[in-house]
Amino acid sequence: MRKILAIAAAAALALTMSACGRDTGTPATGASGSSAAVAVKGTIGVAMPTKTSERWIKDGDYIKQQLEAAGYTVNLVYANDDIPTQVTQVNDMITKKNQLLIVAAIDGVALKGALAEAKAAGIPVVAYDRLLLQTDAVSYYTTFDNFKVGVLQANSLLDGLAASGKPKPWNVELFAGSPDDNNATFFFNGAMSILQPKIDDGTIKIPSAETDFKVVATLRWDAAVAKKRMENILTKSYASTDVNGVLAPYDGLSRGIIAALKGSGYGTGGKALPVVTGQDAELESVKSILAGEQYSTVFKNTRDLAAAAVKMVQEITGGTTVTVNDTTSYNNGIKNVPTQLLQPQVCDKSTCKQILLDANYYTADQLA
Ligand code: GAL
Repeated sequence: MRKILAIAAAAALALTMSACGRDTGTPATGASGSSAAVAVKGTIGVAMPTKTSERWIKDGDYIKQQLEAAGYTVNLVYANDDIPTQVTQVNDMITKKNQLLIVAAIDGVALKGALAEAKAAGIPVVAYDRLLLQTDAVSYYTTFDNFKVGVLQANSLLDGLAASGKPKPWNVELFAGSPDDNNATFFFNGAMSILQPKIDDGTIKIPSAETDFKVVATLRWDAAVAKKRMENILTKSYASTDVNGVLAPYDGLSRGIIAALKGSGYGTGGKALPVVTGQDAELESVKSILAGEQYSTVFKNTRDLAAAAVKMVQEITGGTTVTVNDTTSYNNGIKNVPTQLLQPQVCDKSTCKQILLDANYYTADQLA
């Protein structure tokens, strides 16, 4: 009994220290260890934003499978892209004394009150894919290199434009993600690091003249909002010219944009669809790419991201050094959050199938 109490106390101490961001580097003991902490495997709260996008369903499933395989119990919830729902869900996890929280926020700032409660209760918080902002209660973060995602999208857009054989200057329109999602700015800034010089030297024209992040952003990553904006732009700025390329930051938006373009006669009668980028390798978009409609996507293997988060859970609850590879890129307004960054990969019609099959992300049947 005394040994169990000692182990529990050591694990609680490790949790507290991790929650405070003071990682001790204490190795977890094996079966024969006696002095350091042993992972206590309780219930892990997993708060996901929405099921409307296929990727978050995969993320949730992978996290649950991997945590359960590692011996934890999982409290997985989705918030329907509704901020109050997510706040309630996180508060509920704290009330139920979940051991640790993994959170993919709808709005990066909106959870700060609930997260302060988590910190007060000694519950560590891992930000998943999207950074939690304006809070010191977030212990660690795991995501993909979000700036690089934007760079990959912009380079792919330029590749597609060059391959289209269309004469320069190319007419391009810009879309960004949800302004309350920290990632959206990273994607856009990454893309503009490549595109702005091309706009400045006249290679690219933006007939709508809409280039400001706030103007091109798409609240809640809503495909219908992107579709409407594309329709308005086509009416306003393309009466006598064609659009050659669209920077789209996420597959759901890409499909909304393509729907608007088709509705306006692109993709039929010899009027080619423009080059449209994307992100997430959602099945519907991969099929569109293979069919020659969407030009490319950025593949981020959510199984790997889930694995990185689960590894953090094991390290935090076990009191061992938490694996991170970036301590400077992600400042949340209060602190630099130690981050494990994974690498994104772009793919197009000639490469997507092989890349996704090799990663075992889809089956050959799904892509047939
Ligand atoms: C971002 C995420 C993207 C995409 C988007 C819309 O935060 O990094 O991969 O999924 O949300 O869901």
